Amino acid sequence: MEEIKFTIDGQEVTAKPGQSVLEATLAAGIYIPNLCYDPKLEPYGGCRLCVVEIEGMRGLPTACTTKVTPGMKVRSETPEVHQVRKITMELLVADHPLECLTCSLNQRCDLQKAAAFLGVDQSRLRRSERALANDESNPFFVRDFKKCILCARCVRVCSEVRGLGAIDMAKRGYEAFISPFAGLPIADSICESCGECVDHCPTGALYVRGEAILPGKEVKTICPYCGVGCQMVLGIRQNRIVKVLGDLTYPVNSGSLCVKGRFGLDFASSEDRLKTPLIKKNGQLVEATWDEALDLVASRFKEIKKKHGGQAIAGLCSAKATNEENYLFQKFIRAGAGSPHIDHCARL
Ligand code: SF4
Ligand code: SF4
Ligand code: SF4
Ligand code: FES
Repeated sequence: MEEIKFTIDGQEVTAKPGQSVLEATLAAGIYIPNLCYDPKLEPYGGCRLCVVEIEGMRGLPTACTTKVTPGMKVRSETPEVHQVRKITMELLVADHPLECLTCSLNQRCDLQKAAAFLGVDQSRLRRSERALANDESNPFFVRDFKKCILCARCVRVCSEVRGLGAIDMAKRGYEAFISPFAGLPIADSICESCGECVDHCPTGALYVRGEAILPGKEVKTICPYCGVGCQMVLGIRQNRIVKVLGDLTYPVNSGSLCVKGRFGLDFASSEDRLKTPLIKKNGQLVEATWDEALDLVASRFKEIKKKHGGQAIAGLCSAKATNEENYLFQKFIRAGAGSPHIDHCARL
């Protein structure tokens, strides 16, 4: 496809057809402050931080909603652009808690980054505070209304990516807030706890419980739960998983995860995790070796088959096993045990 050339502050930049000014500029390594833009979502134009001057266009269009055209001349660093962005940012932080040091998103926060870029460290405006109490009803994440900048990324990702629409913007103006239908707590709504909204929130308004620790290293791996095989990036600290993100570069899931993958990996370091087979002896489960366990299973299979026939045996294999393993397992149940009862768990 033919590339489009345009300039930003005199620098020539190349865009792909259909790209917005913001997308092409960010791809070229030039930062334009933005908060409601999200590469996975339709352009929204809500935060108005990405305003620019474009030769021949009236006013200050938003870079995220304006498509690049050949020869376009964009200016991002003029005094007027800077002044408008700065006032917008001052309005945003006027009711935002000044508690970055204790915020779970500290150092990873898009609002912090944009404010620092614009040189806004406090608002000249009278400070105010939103009165809504946190929604702590979900077992995995919390919504802190005080840190919400109403960019609607959570609303849009739930609707556009998950196809669910569990949350929306309620009320208008200064009273606006994000809410499930009828103002219910999120736990009483149709929310499936996938955490996609948490992942896409640019501030600490949505945060995962107990995730304040920064990882020491990251490891790419495949989710252990179902046959979809989503790729994930695990944040590791002292041999424990402290953060789970979907891998944006992996075509199978493009960064998305479901509730099991995103929030269900705490078993990995659980004290209760089974590491050896258990055999029931005198009503008690006791640890055994693999040889003991396999010998017991083989002898019980033989006993059952002799007494009740092969049809009394059923096999349930796993969607996470390889094709070869599943082939061997069904062969074992059908040809070895002599049973037609073979199935697999599609989602576990
Ligand atoms: S959301 Fe960002 S700006 Fe707000 S307190 Fe947290 S780190 Fe600071
Ligand atoms: S957790 Fe998932 S389903 Fe629930 S509101 Fe967020 S995006 Fe929607
Ligand atoms: S909760 Fe986060 S993603 Fe949702 S509107 Fe507020 S700041 Fe934006
Ligand atoms: S990023 Fe363009 S208006 Fe928010």
